[in-house]
Amino acid sequence: MSDGATARGSATEREEARKIAEGLEHLSGFGNEHSSEAVPGALPVGRNSPQRAPLGLYAEQLSGSAFTEPRAVNRRSWLYRIRPSAAHPAFTRTGNGALRSAPFTQTVPDPNRLRWNPLPDPAEGTDFLAGLWTLGGNGDVTQRTGMAVHLYHANASMRRVFSNADGELLIVPERGGLLLRTEFGLLHLEPGHIALIPRGVRFRVELLDETARGYVCENYGAPFQLPDLGPIGANGLANARDFRAPVAAYEDVEGPVEVVNKYCGNLWTATYDHSPLDVVAWHGNHVPYAYDLRRFNVMGTISYDHPDPSIFTVLTSPSDTPGLAGVDFVVFAPRWLVGEDTFRPPYFHRNVMSEYMGLIEGAYDAKTAGEGGFVPGGGSLHTMMSAHGPDRETFDRASAAELKPQKIDDGLAFMFETRWPVSLTPQAARAEHLQQGYDDVWQGLERHFRPLH
Ligand SMILES: [Fe+2]
Repeated sequence: MSDGATARGSATEREEARKIAEGLEHLSGFGNEHSSEAVPGALPVGRNSPQRAPLGLYAEQLSGSAFTEPRAVNRRSWLYRIRPSAAHPAFTRTGNGALRSAPFTQTVPDPNRLRWNPLPDPAEGTDFLAGLWTLGGNGDVTQRTGMAVHLYHANASMRRVFSNADGELLIVPERGGLLLRTEFGLLHLEPGHIALIPRGVRFRVELLDETARGYVCENYGAPFQLPDLGPIGANGLANARDFRAPVAAYEDVEGPVEVVNKYCGNLWTATYDHSPLDVVAWHGNHVPYAYDLRRFNVMGTISYDHPDPSIFTVLTSPSDTPGLAGVDFVVFAPRWLVGEDTFRPPYFHRNVMSEYMGLIEGAYDAKTAGEGGFVPGGGSLHTMMSAHGPDRETFDRASAAELKPQKIDDGLAFMFETRWPVSLTPQAARAEHLQQGYDDVWQGLERHFRPLH
């Protein structure tokens, strides 16, 4: 490879990455005991840690839960690698860029409804890690509770490798395809897909297009799982079989590789003498996934009233209180609206949970689209008990609409919904791309009350 600074953004390199991404195989399912080997015979049979692992590999366990947690939530994987992860020099502190972590205490918690335009263009040579920009969050990274909302805007593939000890990363691309090279193998993401990178798993993000932009939910709490379905039954919402786990693939690379580790809110760096993406075989259930949101099986009313948006939950991170999520990931996917005598867009409400919404493409049915509105790559925050709902234009239109069956197929919006208020970083509170006058969308909602007929 030639000079990294020029090569990592080259069209040729992106083409090569795209060819690899589009030819990938994967394993199907969510939460399975998967297993995979890139070289036949690399996976030990009948035991995890034989006296000598096959092919001269090192055996290593990666624990995503305490050893003794109940089987239903116990997570670990066994990795068979060229060198053990322990073979590295000391980490030293490096700059955090625009990445921040909880507790978010630098701004006064703001009860206002807020909305941002997309992130500005990054400087040349900005990779995924350098392109991360934290909006805010809650909880405490050292207590493994809460979450952070990040956005990213990148124009270069990573050369370095990243891992996050602080939580799992839910990556939601809005613009530009990505090739994720992880310890477990490769995943292909396009806008409309999501990826989950578990706590501690090392990975690199390569770009398939000139720029990449999107959202990241960093979940410090319990790992995301599929929601219970209750009376819905055994199928529906995000179906487990539609999740893609990678097949084993490894790099056998000697030479300096920078590895960046996010630990208790700060970035630390070390230069390894080999690539840590050197896992030749693995088995377990602490693994990365990708999922196409267009596969979401949308449930809704076939009689009246808009259901609570929890019906659109893709993944949930449970808390210690049954039914109360640390954070839910919710998608507003294409769907039919057929409710009779019903105000069909999401209703006006105030919520004890806090809602960050983003838009992957098109428009959202409760907000007018277009410049200065809720646009792809932008986001809105309706924090605890803030009053929100359809804007005036949407209200007027939906109140007068003829209630024939209507397909909503021009948008893909999502929500990170969290149990605690979202506090902002100073950079989000003072951002130039923070919209002024968001409150105005609810101005002019006219009085229609007529006490006497
Ligand atoms: Fe809401």
